[in-house]
Parts: sequence; C-alpha cells; structure tokens
Amino acid sequence: MNSTVSPLNAAKRIDGKGCADQIIASIADRVAILGIQPGLAVILVGADSASQTYVNSKSKRAKECGFYSAQYDLPEDTSEVALLELIEQLNVDDQIHGILVQLPLPDQIDPEKVIQAIDPTKDVDGFHFNNAGRLQAGALEQALIPCTPLGCLHLIQHELGAELRGKHVVVVGRSNIVGKPVASLLLQQDCTVTTVHSGTVNPEQICRLADILIVAVGVPQLVKADWVKPGAVVIDVGINYVEDSSGKGRLIGDVHFDAVAEKAAAITPVPGGVGPMTIAMLMQNTLLVAERAL
Ligand code: GUN
Repeated sequence: MNSTVSPLNAAKRIDGKGCADQIIASIADRVAILGIQPGLAVILVGADSASQTYVNSKSKRAKECGFYSAQYDLPEDTSEVALLELIEQLNVDDQIHGILVQLPLPDQIDPEKVIQAIDPTKDVDGFHFNNAGRLQAGALEQALIPCTPLGCLHLIQHELGAELRGKHVVVVGRSNIVGKPVASLLLQQDCTVTTVHSGTVNPEQICRLADILIVAVGVPQLVKADWVKPGAVVIDVGINYVEDSSGKGRLIGDVHFDAVAEKAAAITPVPGGVGPMTIAMLMQNTLLVAERAL
C-alpha cells in the first residue's frame, strides 16, 4: 500500500480545496486572454462574522482570477431602498458582470425583493426567478445556475465520471439556495432524485438507497453511518460552527464525518470540501457572464 491510499474501509476524502484551486487557475488563464476584465460586485449588509469571512474570500478569489472586484460593506441599518438603489446602479454598470448580495440580510430588508431586483443576466448566485425557472425547465443555455449545486455536481463528476445516468441521488434539504436547485441539476443529468426534508417519514431509510447522498440542512452531524449505503458518494454542504466544552470553536458538517467515512466510497470534508467549490463556481459564473457579453 503506498502512502496516498486510504486505510482499508475508509472513504476517499474529496479534495474540494485542491479542485477549486485548479479551477481558479484555469479561470485566471482564460481572463488573461479574454480582452475584457470580468467585474464582480459583492455586497455585505451588517457585520455577521461568518458572512464577512465568506465575502472576503469571494473578493480575494475574484482578484486571483484577475477580475475587477468591488466589495460594498454596508452598515447593519442600511434601508431596503438604499440597497435597491445600489443594485440598480450596478445593474447598468458595464464594468460589473456579476452581482452578489450576501445572505442573510437584516430584518428590515426583504431578501426576495433584493434578489428579484438584480438583473437576471448578472445574477451570478442564480437565485432570480428567471434563473431558477430556466434551471427547472432544463433551459440551461441562458441560465445562471446556483454556485453550491454547481460545485456539488463538479465534485460528484470528479469522483464518478461525467455520466451519472441512473444514479439514485438523495438530497437532504429543500432550500432555494441548495436543496431544490441541486435536485433539478442532477435530474437534468438523468439521475433518479429523491428529496428528503423535515416532513419525510423514515429519512434514514431513504438515504440508505442513495448512490449519491447530498446533505444541506445546517444540522451538525445529522447523518450517521447507518444512513449511508456502503460505497456511496457523500457530499456534505453543511458548515456549522460549534464550540466544545472548553469554548474552543470549530467547523463541522451535516454528516458525522469519521463514522460515515468508514462506509462511503468518497466523502467531502468540512472545511475544505464544498465551501471552496462554491466560491470557484461563483468565479466561473462571473466569467460566463463576461463571455456572454463578448
Ligand atoms: N449565504 C449562504 N450561502 C450563500 C450563497 O451561496 N450566496 C449568497 N448570496 N449568500 C449566501
């Protein structure tokens, strides 16, 4: 056994960070010869520390890609009207190809109003109803697809190859950001897709049928080893901050990693799995918009 092979019965750890680094490098190569500079605007309202970390990573990666990066850090008490005015300016700004408003937003701002105010052709999150509808209808040519689902698909194809026809995918969670769009995306790949949610009876029994198990609920270590079929590919979208009894904090996923790794063929770690891929796909979407404008 050489040093890169996992011990017997342990799953391959899927290297999302390494995969994302490669994608960022290839985007930077493409930008160098594109003839225009893609521009990404990222808006953060308030000072939520997790959101600040995500937004700073997005701006940093945009710069690594050679993009024009505009970050707007707005105060917690920003009005809905002020945010909508900024979006309107960015919608008509030719330097900006992608607009992202980090969620969640403070209570005085209706996130739905904000998302629907973004020009759908610049909606690099893929959350606008136009883009959600195009994905649902399979009209992918003009669509922008949400970044986390795209990142999940990328990692799954990296493990299993491009052809996913007939695979049984079970998605745990039905959010508009991950659960629903990732289910649509994999249906588009001719997978058999089942969605498990808080109203599902016997979720663990259904999860055990999955060739590919995608978990996106925000419940730390919800999925245990006995929810997983031996040899399944497990994609953990959860990023949960927890503190141990001494007050030391760490990030864990929605899957009980150590136990599930004994059973699965491959599993994404948290951190270093889906998270970096979400950001890489945001850069890919921004490049796509810039290329569509050529
Ligand atoms: N908050 C958590 N995930 C996301 C995301 O993918 N996009 C935005 N805009 N906000 C988020």
